[in-house]
Amino acid sequence: MKASAKCRGFFIYLCTYLFPLNTKSPIGVFDSGYGGLTVLKEIVRALPQYDYIYLGDNARAPYGSRSFETVYEYTLECVKQLFEMGCPLVVLACNTASAKALRNIQQKDLPLLAPDKRVLGVIRPTTEIIGTHSKTRQVGVLGTTGTITSNSYPIEINKFFPDITVHQEACPMWVPIVENNEFESEGADFYIKKNLHNLLSKNRDIDTIILGCTHYPLLINKIKKHLPSGITLLSQGEIVADSLGDYLKRHSELESKLSKGKQVEFFTTDSADNFDKAASLFYGKEVKSKHLEM
Ligand code: DGL
Repeated sequence: MKASAKCRGFFIYLCTYLFPLNTKSPIGVFDSGYGGLTVLKEIVRALPQYDYIYLGDNARAPYGSRSFETVYEYTLECVKQLFEMGCPLVVLACNTASAKALRNIQQKDLPLLAPDKRVLGVIRPTTEIIGTHSKTRQVGVLGTTGTITSNSYPIEINKFFPDITVHQEACPMWVPIVENNEFESEGADFYIKKNLHNLLSKNRDIDTIILGCTHYPLLINKIKKHLPSGITLLSQGEIVADSLGDYLKRHSELESKLSKGKQVEFFTTDSADNFDKAASLFYGKEVKSKHLEM
């Protein structure tokens, strides 16, 4: 982190400490780039009363092909940033970060860094409900290389539903296709067809497929076009929003700390102009972001 960013972080932290009554306590929502906006959109729809800060680490995206150590380092940096901006709760709206960084942050960093704050991911809420969707007990997962090689989905699903067999397919081209605004192109058709064919070849009884990357809802029309009928596609936005609502009901000590001003602020580590141009596709509304130096 640059010295100027550190100073600004410290200044924000100092203000939070000195002027607690004037400071917002938003829910932080983090993703490597734009994908988490598909989750934020559903969270804000379900829980409009809270304040939110979205942080997209676009300058360092994609995370999907990066090492465990790098994803962990970047994610932790962004979580700390959101804490400094006053968030008592951060949602990692990124499967890759949830797969590669969440456990370490929850178990190793939080107790030392901020024992009163919480960080949640998107994998567990999805795996908790998958059993209610699959009749054949053969489930497919599509995700980034990082998410798939971490095996987080099979491990978590089998904790809740040991009778389910999970088949996985890494789709390394899908995030670059989305990030480069190529999701309506023929190139997108080529890769979607190829990866769906690979996944469905692993077991012909797969009846439910998890879109295990928050970028993939942007490809949903093309995925549906190439998917045989009768297979349920699950994207995570609504699932994560429901699960967060439920979590806040069960954790009133945390819920009471959250400010309820209905404001949503957007930050990106890359160009704010570029972010605003693409973000509305993911968020479904115009977005006005600010640049954040990391
Ligand atoms: N949106 C992220 C996810 O859900 C992946 C994007 C990336 O590769 O950076 O996994």
